[in-house]
Amino acid sequence: MACCHFYAPGEGGDEAFSMDGSSVTFGLGVLREAGDHAAALGIGRVALMTDKVMAGLEHLAVVKAALEGAGIDVVVYDEVRVEPTDESFKAAARFAQEGKFDGFVSVGGGSVIDTTKAANLYSAHPAEFLTYVNKPIGGGQAVPGPIKPHIACPTTCGTGSECTGIAVFDLLSMRAKTGIVSRYLRPTMALVDPACTYTLPKNVVAASAFDVLSHSLESYTALAYTRRKAPARPSLRPMSQGANPWSDLGCREAMRILGTHLVRGVNDPADKEARGQLMWAATLAGIAFGNAGCHVPHGMSYSVAGMVREFQPDGYPKAEPIVPHGMSVIVNAPAVFRFTAEACPDRHLEAAGLLGADTRGATDGDAGEVLAGQLIQFMKSTDMPNGIGGVGYNQDDIPNLTEGSFPQRRLMDNAPRAIGKDELNSLYRNALSYW
Ligand SMILES: NC(=O)c1ccc[n+]([C@@H]2O[C@H](COP(=O)([O-])OP(=O)(O)OC[C@H]3O[C@@H](n4cnc5c(N)ncnc54)[C@H](O)[C@@H]3O)[C@@H](O)[C@H]2O)c1
Ligand SMILES: [Fe+2]
Repeated sequence: MACCHFYAPGEGGDEAFSMDGSSVTFGLGVLREAGDHAAALGIGRVALMTDKVMAGLEHLAVVKAALEGAGIDVVVYDEVRVEPTDESFKAAARFAQEGKFDGFVSVGGGSVIDTTKAANLYSAHPAEFLTYVNKPIGGGQAVPGPIKPHIACPTTCGTGSECTGIAVFDLLSMRAKTGIVSRYLRPTMALVDPACTYTLPKNVVAASAFDVLSHSLESYTALAYTRRKAPARPSLRPMSQGANPWSDLGCREAMRILGTHLVRGVNDPADKEARGQLMWAATLAGIAFGNAGCHVPHGMSYSVAGMVREFQPDGYPKAEPIVPHGMSVIVNAPAVFRFTAEACPDRHLEAAGLLGADTRGATDGDAGEVLAGQLIQFMKSTDMPNGIGGVGYNQDDIPNLTEGSFPQRRLMDNAPRAIGKDELNSLYRNALSYW
């Protein structure tokens, strides 16, 4: 068990934590409930948001039929870009503005759900695009008020975006990812149907499951909320409030499930039980990191994804090179947890044990290595890229990768150890390859 001094009061630190969550309905077949829920939310005309691959799959057809069956006027938008950009967010926002919808339903992975949040936001509160984008890249202005109802139907076992107030995109001019963060962006409700995972390509299961794994590990090892400076006013308490007893619950259970189901769910498309469990872990970790926040593996991923040159993994659209989000995160993770273990070794060891590592006889000094070893074993067993070298980077790219991720202060400052440019340089160096 993690020791109780982790949440000891800190000098000037916060004394309370918040528990926010989406309303989640989880179960086989729940996509068929979309029409009834949308009608109950007072939606008469809905934007049904998706991407080109999803547009041809049964999941979208089921939701569309359910909405139409409830007498709702449905307009489909299937132009969402996989790994969205500022341009694709803006295009979706224009569609939303022109369509005069009174609600949104998203059917897809994090790319679709995040794009829907942005379309909903900019049609409800029009503004110059960078206005609400996180500082220092954007203006960081608070979203002024509520947006329209949004029912999110996640179809990957990954991002947890259905439970978070975060929308992530690639800012093309900077070749870096960034995002918009506000409680108002959190979907009104989520319909999570594990059957969606049955049609996922192997690499999408892997990338999204590693995203979940890193959400739970990062939230579990984040700076304790009692060590984050107390907000000037209670209403300013951030969603990324640091590790807290509420997020710990979801993280522990998500890690326990991943320990037994990640490799099975990735490698065996017929293993419906494992894939269903991965969907449940994704939901738990989404609730957890939506209240705690991620840290360095996600912060580093933003330039790993943004500066991609030629990487084109199987299972993803081939139109352009991409490093899928979960891959861009997990290639950093072993290096980061070797480094952060010193700050809270008991938590790192406990996490390794939950993930299935043999921790018998391990000391605090072994914690980083034991956890990193378990992650590397999972990566090898699921054919993940071997570090950032495996997605096309080399030693010469490290200065640019560091410059790109250093500004991600929301994430970096949530780490249990201070992260400056020197630390990022050596973390990227240590992430070049693992085996
Ligand atoms: N908002 C948040 O809190 C948050 C958190 C983590 C990641 N993200 C963002 O989410 C995005 C990644 O989302 P993702 O990993 O869910 O993948 P995705 O939405 O990018 O989809 C990946 C691919 O899988 C396909 N696909 C999705 N569901 C399918 C299904 N059921 N069957 C067959 N194919 C399917 C898609 O069409 C696409 O080609 C990134 O942009 C990332 O930055 C957001
Ligand atoms: Fe993520």
